[in-house]
Amino acid sequence: MKLQRPSIAPVIGAIFVVAFLNPVSRAAETDDRGFQLCGVLRRGLKDYSNHNLTAVPSHLPHSTQYLDISYNPIHRWDADQFFGLSQLCFLKATHCGLRVIPPTVFKHTPGLKVLNISHNSLSFIPAISLKRLQVFAVDNNLYSSYKIPASFRDLRALDFLVLGSTAATTVRFHDFDALVNVSLNHLFLGAGTPWRKYDSGSLARINLQNISLHVSFCEDFIMLDNLLRDLAEARVRSIRFTSVFLDTCRVTGDPFFKLRTMPFLQRLSIESTWINSSFMESFVKNVWLSSLRELLFVNITYNEDTAEGFQLPTINQSISLRSVTFNSVNHYQYKYPTFNMSSKAFSELTYLRFSGTGMNILPCGLISTLPSLEMLDLSDNLLSESGFWWFQCSYASTFPKLQKLSLSRNRFISLSFISKKMQQMKTLKSLDLSFNSIHLDGACFWPAQLTELSLGNNNLGNAVFSYLSPNFVKIDLTKTGITAITQEVLSRFPKLEQLTLSFNSIQVFPEDLSVPTLLRLHVDQNAITSVSREALAGLPRLQTLIAGNNPYFCSCDIHWFITAFNKSLLPDWPFDYTCSTPPSLTGLSLSEYKTSKLSCEMWLQSVVALPVLTAVCTAISVIFWKCDGAWYTRMLWTWIRMKRRGKKRSNLLKNASFDYHAFISYSHQDSNWVDSQLVPSLEGNGFSLCVHERDFVPGEWILDNIINCVESSYKTLFVLSKHFVQSEWCNYELFFAQHRSISTQSDSIVFVLLEPIPPDSLPKRFLRLRSLLKQQTYLEWPSDERKQQVFWASLKSLLHMADKAVVLRDAAQDILDRIPLLTEQT
Ligand SMILES: *[C@@H]1O[C@H](CO)[C@@H](O)[C@H](O)[C@H]1NC(C)=O
Ligand SMILES: *[C@@H]1O[C@H](CO)[C@@H](O)[C@H](O)[C@H]1NC(C)=O
Ligand SMILES: *[C@@H]1O[C@H](CO)[C@@H](O)[C@H](O)[C@H]1NC(C)=O
Ligand SMILES: *[C@@H]1O[C@H](CO)[C@@H](O)[C@H](O)[C@H]1NC(C)=O
Ligand SMILES: *[C@@H]1O[C@H](CO)[C@@H](O)[C@H](O)[C@H]1NC(C)=O
Ligand SMILES: *[C@@H]1O[C@H](CO)[C@@H](O)[C@H](O)[C@H]1NC(C)=O
Ligand SMILES: *[C@@H]1O[C@H](CO)[C@@H](O)[C@H](O)[C@H]1NC(C)=O
Ligand SMILES: *[C@@H]1O[C@H](CO)[C@@H](O)[C@H](O)[C@H]1NC(C)=O
Ligand SMILES: *[C@@H]1O[C@H](CO)[C@@H](O)[C@H](O)[C@H]1NC(C)=O
Repeated sequence: MKLQRPSIAPVIGAIFVVAFLNPVSRAAETDDRGFQLCGVLRRGLKDYSNHNLTAVPSHLPHSTQYLDISYNPIHRWDADQFFGLSQLCFLKATHCGLRVIPPTVFKHTPGLKVLNISHNSLSFIPAISLKRLQVFAVDNNLYSSYKIPASFRDLRALDFLVLGSTAATTVRFHDFDALVNVSLNHLFLGAGTPWRKYDSGSLARINLQNISLHVSFCEDFIMLDNLLRDLAEARVRSIRFTSVFLDTCRVTGDPFFKLRTMPFLQRLSIESTWINSSFMESFVKNVWLSSLRELLFVNITYNEDTAEGFQLPTINQSISLRSVTFNSVNHYQYKYPTFNMSSKAFSELTYLRFSGTGMNILPCGLISTLPSLEMLDLSDNLLSESGFWWFQCSYASTFPKLQKLSLSRNRFISLSFISKKMQQMKTLKSLDLSFNSIHLDGACFWPAQLTELSLGNNNLGNAVFSYLSPNFVKIDLTKTGITAITQEVLSRFPKLEQLTLSFNSIQVFPEDLSVPTLLRLHVDQNAITSVSREALAGLPRLQTLIAGNNPYFCSCDIHWFITAFNKSLLPDWPFDYTCSTPPSLTGLSLSEYKTSKLSCEMWLQSVVALPVLTAVCTAISVIFWKCDGAWYTRMLWTWIRMKRRGKKRSNLLKNASFDYHAFISYSHQDSNWVDSQLVPSLEGNGFSLCVHERDFVPGEWILDNIINCVESSYKTLFVLSKHFVQSEWCNYELFFAQHRSISTQSDSIVFVLLEPIPPDSLPKRFLRLRSLLKQQTYLEWPSDERKQQVFWASLKSLLHMADKAVVLRDAAQDILDRIPLLTEQT
């Protein structure tokens, strides 16, 4: 069967497309490999690159595993530069202008596995000897020879070597001798410039799996031929040519004829090269007659220099090729390329990729009838519904074995239309529609066998779930404008194993979530503030959770996630998890956020709180008892009652006048205390006292004396002790009996208890004293000196009330000032 180029005139989109949308980032790839080797992660590491350093930083911790000093003007290293860094595994010092590497500099870093000193000014490949070195990049320097130093014999672990210098244009026969016994996985050679001389056999003896050649061959295709013969002998399995022909080169003859006789070669990649259709014809013929299974064209410029386009007659041989990739094809002519070849050539193909080719119409039959094709990647083109399902093509039996189809980064719009068309692809399991302009424009009818769908980077919103099939096992909704997920919505997917919701605006992880089949969940880059135990309990089979880069609220809610959740389920832990709120913790890594278990767990709180509360109460009681808290309390009570009555009393007594502030009555047995403490203390403060015994008029009856004194005193102060009660009180019983009127003004009586006298312990006959003591405030004389101060203050204020109510306030203040003594006492 012959395939014609599509005979369609209308050009829907520009075909001349410079499409470098997927630049292969080699630096990141190779660096990642280094990180992997050293067991360190790319993020979370501080490096010293671009720090304008003129020397390697000193005081590096001995535990340093990773050191990047790239892009600093460090032109030389001392012999002991890395002294003490015995753990160093990864050293990167590119773009430093290094001129010489002292031979002994790495003797302190025996564990070095990755060394990148590319882009410097070394004039020789340095003679290093590191037994564990696996990755060594020394390309883009100034050396003029590829002569590998003899010390490389010791690099037994080396499997990734990058060499290249624009000044090195010849390869001598013995240059790679030192690598003869080293088993390299990958050798990079060249700096983009042509070689002037290549000695046949130079690379034939090294033990090599893959080679990347950044060398252009134009002047001398015999050199390329020799090189390929050597690589065949070295049993290389994969070759990558970068800029193999310069744009100015005119390719004649058949430079890749050797491919037919390279039985070990499986993979060939041609990158960043101009390719004419005339060359393509002879090249593809060679490929079909080779053992190659994989062919790649990356970033090529395609030019039809043959009048009939690309023509390939029927071939009559079984073909090994299984996988063809075109990634970024720049069409030199502003027209559709012409292909005329047998589809038999493709009959065994299982993988086909046309990315970045500017394709806007799928050539009828060319691709859709490939009998073995399992994966088709048409990403990054200009395809739309009408271009992919072109009306002039008939699709009776399309894509007989296709399982995976990527239409990512195209111009598709209608999800309902696509879902219907998918019914034609009877074996399709996986469809990628990410980065299109998909709209939800009507009911979707997905075929039952389709189980994986990616709709990432289309503006769809929460409604999208209603347009999906319950058969879906894998759903990718990255950046689709989803703001919430609910259990109700997810319960529609009983087979769901993988759900990707990265880069959305989901705020809450529903607690009633229950997706028993889910194995993998991505909710990174959302607005989630917390991940609860309840929500994850509904995902019993979860193996991977990606939930980094969310604005986590660091509080007790997150405590369980930080402490108890199995971190081996989180590949992005801990670097992508930081606190966002409260503001004081912004930027703090979740792994460093410490809340105590106690402050966050309710049952623990109550378990702990009970004994603590008991202990505190006990402690307070003990302190209260030890420090006579009861005494202070009583004093306070006294004062409060005093205050209540103060006003009334002061009005009552405003116009009355007395000779004495107080009449003091006491037993002569207590005269010692009265004379030494009470009288000096009160009289020293300006109180005038009528003191029983001292001021009694001799000869008068004791009761008259008492009455005289009481009547000329504002208050009557009894110093109560057991002695007083026994010897003196009977006089006062009589006195009260005679002067009921006075006794009613019980406020004028002040009792000072020198020792505790419980009212109930008094004999029944002292009925009045008992009742007075029960209703009357009294002051107890404390033995503690500090409490005595409070005592005096209280007493004075009681007596003071004669003068002015203001005094009362002063007294109150006085007492209050002393109250803190209570607490100090502990
Ligand atoms: C060495 O560093 C350069 C500059 O960053 C990078 O492009 C290159 O890929 C690195 N090589 C290796 C082998 O890591
Ligand atoms: C780097 O350091 C040099 C001197 O050490 C100074 O002159 C220069 O301005 C610095 N450059 C930057 C970008 O800081
Ligand atoms: C490689 O190994 C062989 C045998 O072990 C030995 O004879 C030869 O000298 C070695 N060559 C180099 C360059 O190490
Ligand atoms: C290099 O070779 C190994 C083994 O043949 C292979 O697994 C690997 O993918 C190759 N690497 C590249 C970059 O081709
Ligand atoms: C491709 O063909 C053009 C003429 O159409 C020629 O000028 C150019 O040198 C050729 N390039 C290669 C790489 O063969
Ligand atoms: C693509 O190839 C051209 C040469 O054909 C080169 O100049 C350009 O740098 C390449 N781009 C990438 C991304 O490799
Ligand atoms: C395609 O190639 C065959 C020979 O293999 C030839 O007969 C036919 O005319 C070609 N078709 C076009 C359109 O060039
Ligand atoms: C194809 O191969 C068969 C046998 O191998 C041979 O008979 C036939 O002539 C070949 N046809 C062509 C076009 O080479
Ligand atoms: C954490 O998960 C891993 C992988 O699923 C498992 O092997 C490991 O036993 C789990 N650890 C704990 C403590 O559950």
